[in-house]
Amino acid sequence: MRSTWLAFALSALVVVSSSAAHVHASPGKLEVGFYEHSCAQAEDIVRNAVRRGIAREPGVGAGLIRMHFHDCFVRGCDGSILINSTPGNLAEKDSVANNPSMRGFDVIDDAKAVLEAHCPRTVSCADIVAFAARDSTYLAGGLDYKVPSGRRDGRVSKEEEVLDNNVPAPTDEVDELIESFKRKGLNADDMVTLSGAHTIGRSHCSSFTQRLYNFSGQLGQTDPSLDPAYAGHLKARCPWPSSDDQMDPTVVPLDPVTPATFDNQYYKNVLAHKVLFISDNTLLDNPWTAGMVHFNAAVEKAWQVKFAKAMVKMGKVQVLTGDEGEIREKCFAVNPHY
Ligand code: HEM
Ligand SMILES: *[C@@H]1O[C@H](CO)[C@@H](O)[C@H](O)[C@H]1NC(C)=O
Repeated sequence: MRSTWLAFALSALVVVSSSAAHVHASPGKLEVGFYEHSCAQAEDIVRNAVRRGIAREPGVGAGLIRMHFHDCFVRGCDGSILINSTPGNLAEKDSVANNPSMRGFDVIDDAKAVLEAHCPRTVSCADIVAFAARDSTYLAGGLDYKVPSGRRDGRVSKEEEVLDNNVPAPTDEVDELIESFKRKGLNADDMVTLSGAHTIGRSHCSSFTQRLYNFSGQLGQTDPSLDPAYAGHLKARCPWPSSDDQMDPTVVPLDPVTPATFDNQYYKNVLAHKVLFISDNTLLDNPWTAGMVHFNAAVEKAWQVKFAKAMVKMGKVQVLTGDEGEIREKCFAVNPHY
C-alpha cells in the first residue's frame, strides 16, 4: 500500500521533531499530544466530527484545509476566523475572502460541542481547526501527520485585516506570493508546496472570471496562459457578466481531473495550464518555483511529506500559548467577561 511508506517516513520525521520538543518543553511552544492528559479523546473527537461533516457535505474537508490557512495568515493561528461579527465589530469571517466562500464552520462547532461535554474549556478552537485540516487531508487521500498543539484562542477578529497584506489574492503574481508567505515566516518552497491544496475543493466563478473575460483590464480578452479548451469549458460554466458576482453561487472544481482526491494532480494541472487562478499559473513564471512544480508533479510521495511538514510549520505562525488568549467556550464568540 502506498500509504505504508508514507506513514513510515512521516512517523520518522515526527519522532525526531517531537523528541526535540520534549527536551525543550517550555511555554510558548506547541507539542504533539498536548491534550494527552487533559483530554485524551480530543483528537478522536475532532476526527469524528470531520467524518460526520464530510458525510453531510463531501467538499467540507477542502473548506477546513483552507480555513486553517486563512486563520493562520491573519493574527496567527488563533481561531480568529471563527468569530462572528457583532453590532460593533465586522469580523474576519465577513471579509470577501471568506464570505460566502469559506465552509466548515459547522464542523468546528460540532467538534467543540462534543469537546465541551467531555472536557470543558480545555481544547482551543485554534487547535480544533489545525486538527480538522489534518483530518481532512487524511480523509481525502490518506495523508496523515502529527499536529503539534497547545494553541490558545485570540479575542480579536477584524474584517479589514484579512486582505491587508495577510491573505493573498488569486490575482497575485509569484513575487507577491513569495513575499506574502515570507511575511508569515514561510519560504517559497512552503508556498509552492501548500498551493498543492488546490488539488481538492472548488471555487466560485467570481474568483477567476476576470481572467476569462477581462484579462489585464481589456474587456473580451482571455488570459492567453489558460489552456484554450479549458478556458472554453470554464466560460460555459461561468457566464459573464453575472448579475452580482459576489453572490453568484456557481462553483467549479479547482482540480478538473481528480477533484476530490488529495493527490499531486494540482502540479500536473499547473504544467498543463489548467488552473483557475493567476496565483496558480504564475508559479511557472519564476525558474525556481517552476522547478518545484515539476518536482512535485513528478514525485507525489516527496510532495506529500513536504506538505505535512509545511502544514505543521504554517500551524505555528504567531500562535498564542501558555496563558495568552483564552480557551473559547464557543468557537464563534469570545468568552464573556464574568
Ligand atoms: C498561494 C496563495 C493562495 C491563493 C491566492 C488562494 C486563493 C484561493 C481562492 C480564490 C479559492 C476559491 C475560493 C472560492 O471562490 O470559493 C481557493 C480555494 C481553496 N484554497 Fe486556496 N489560495 C492560496 C493558497 C492556499 C493554501 C496555502 C491552502 C491550504 C494549505 C489553500 C487551500 C484551498 C482549498 C482547499 C480551497 C478549496 C476550498 C473549498 O472547496 O471550500 N489555498 N483558494
Ligand atoms: C475590467 O478590468 C479593469 C481593470 O482591472 C477594471 O477596472 C474593470 O472594472 C473591469 N471591468 C469589468 C466589467 O469588470
